[in-house]
Amino acid sequence: MKIILHLVIFVFVSISVYAEDGHNLWLRVSNPLPVSVVCTKSSPTLAIAKQELKKGWMGESGASVTLLTKADKAIHGDGFKISKDEIQANTEFGILYGVFELLRRQQTGESISDEISNPTNDRRILNHWDNLNGSVERGYAGLSIFWREGKDAWRVTEKDKTLWEEYARANASIGLNGSVVNNVNASQLILTKECLERVKAIADVLRSYGIKTYLSVKFSSPALIGGIKTSDPLNPEVIQWWKDKVKEIYQLIPDFGGFLVKANSEGQPGPQDFGRTHADGANMLADALKPYGGIVMWRAFVYSTTSEDRAKQAYLEFMPLDGMFRDNVIIQVKNGPVDFQPREPFSPLFGAMKKTTVMPELQITQEYLGHSVHLAFLAPMWEEFLQSDTYQKGPGSTVARCTEGSLFHQKYSAIAGVANIGLDANWCGHPFAQANWYAFGRLAWNSSLRSEQIADEWIKLTFGSTAKNANGTISDPIIDWNLNFLSPVKQMMLDSREAVVDYMMPLGLHHIFSANGHYGPGPWWAPKGMRKDWTPPYYHQADTLGIGFDRTGTGTNAVGQYPEPLRSELTNLSTCPEAYLLWFHHLPWDYQMKSGRKLWDELCIHYDGGVQRVRQFQKIWDQAERFVDRNRFLDVQKRLRDQSLNALEWKDGCLLYFQQFSRRPFPYNLERPMYNLEDLIEKDTKRVGDYH
Ligand code: GCU
Repeated sequence: MKIILHLVIFVFVSISVYAEDGHNLWLRVSNPLPVSVVCTKSSPTLAIAKQELKKGWMGESGASVTLLTKADKAIHGDGFKISKDEIQANTEFGILYGVFELLRRQQTGESISDEISNPTNDRRILNHWDNLNGSVERGYAGLSIFWREGKDAWRVTEKDKTLWEEYARANASIGLNGSVVNNVNASQLILTKECLERVKAIADVLRSYGIKTYLSVKFSSPALIGGIKTSDPLNPEVIQWWKDKVKEIYQLIPDFGGFLVKANSEGQPGPQDFGRTHADGANMLADALKPYGGIVMWRAFVYSTTSEDRAKQAYLEFMPLDGMFRDNVIIQVKNGPVDFQPREPFSPLFGAMKKTTVMPELQITQEYLGHSVHLAFLAPMWEEFLQSDTYQKGPGSTVARCTEGSLFHQKYSAIAGVANIGLDANWCGHPFAQANWYAFGRLAWNSSLRSEQIADEWIKLTFGSTAKNANGTISDPIIDWNLNFLSPVKQMMLDSREAVVDYMMPLGLHHIFSANGHYGPGPWWAPKGMRKDWTPPYYHQADTLGIGFDRTGTGTNAVGQYPEPLRSELTNLSTCPEAYLLWFHHLPWDYQMKSGRKLWDELCIHYDGGVQRVRQFQKIWDQAERFVDRNRFLDVQKRLRDQSLNALEWKDGCLLYFQQFSRRPFPYNLERPMYNLEDLIEKDTKRVGDYH
């Protein structure tokens, strides 16, 4: 059986060897086998489900598959039951997800036995940081797929609709069911008539694929576009304005999902501008949305210029409000307490807010992980986060269990990911960045999936087998492909995030980026008068005595926001995981590490190890050449070369800078620096600032 399945994979993929631009993502089957589909009901979604089966069938030739919409207590929400020849679900979207699951298993050679799959999260949402002028904040894959500038800005073309449909299909294929189509730094104009007409057009395309449309809104909209003097959430005129606006939206989009709000954060307006709380603001919007079943996702990404440790501020602002939010408000919390760093401990708000629905916000776009130049597979980072133990209800209280509602009541279970999608032909810039979109969807559906499985599936679906010998013939293709492509490339993906951590911020260092778009190193960057918590020295605290941010009781006591026994574990140097050492502790350069080495030497070894690993990735990729079409091979090869050079800049920049404080030599068995610190600083200071 296994052999047959493997042959199936091979046949499907070997047809599409040549010149791929990546636009088809993980949905590349071009030569399906015949199948007949039995389905007694009809609807646009079921029509898509049938069509997908026919477009991607790699099961038994001429088989018949039944699609059955029938309630079953064991199936929850949009879950489904699949077998080789039947898909049953409570909802038609469940049928569609079941279809994609069946096809994926056929195409990857995974076994298909009778089983039920229920989603971990009811709402699985992409957040697009797309501006109305078509630019994408922290976007590295071209302009927005939703918005554009110019005289054609509002015209909905056939090309737009085709692209939105392809986007919706890709999302549905991995279980995503929501899209926030504009930036959290929202323009008030999103709520004007012409914008809403375009949102309606988007929603009309996404709907049949099970995707709800949501909007980010600006809190001061009533004053900015409503002709009201204030945006105070307790003002009756303001309340009425939002009610009327929500009504107008639902008239256009009856299944509209709700609002996402960034308030009193990084200069955005919010209820605190009027002496009100986050709860006052969120509840006012929630009341307006309630009659239509809409929700408010209110972000907890807040920090201000107080002397308080930035990592503590969200908890300090939100914990006192626990239990004060309406039941259709979800607090959207970034995975870590600072800002999407390559590694952060989980935000202490997870599990702590026991009377409020909380959802994680992950960042798929690689703002702090090398944009679309560096290969960084993020599933291991998200797996680490979701499986982190909060101890909020004893051992085993993982973040995933807290937010899914199995530990504390959560009216909704939801998760958001900041999208990495743009107009680039391959959607994501780096061909491997597609894997992060894929991984987010898969984990949003099933938070207990392992990175290894996700990588395995994605590689099979995205690259398939195109194995050839040097003389162009195919010999024992599957074994060859598994051994010489799948296995090394998978390992490269699984190691890639740790490599980035090593050359950017080993041992718990964080936020030491160049002010230029959070790409290169900038541990030195601290212009006079700049907000301290926007400068790297605030975070690394390097001095002649040592390095790291003391967040224990002798420092800012951020550890106090975590419950026992975690608090003690993080405080105690012998139990604090070394991966978080400098996040929580300021330590002398000679501090003795578990390896027996001194902290300075260990730091050097990590930086160097990161660089060496990227060089290893280059070798792995070059060896994989015969298995990949030319376009994608060369594209990845070039990006790995740039990544390798950048990793070296990170290593040399940070180590030469820190060496001024440590006054110690580099371990002699490590490669010597290739750059001068002065040159790197000069290069960095010539760039245009982009601070927070
Ligand atoms: C980071 C990011 C901003 C973004 C912000 C947010 O600070 O750099 O571009 O707006 O996060 O999540 O709101």
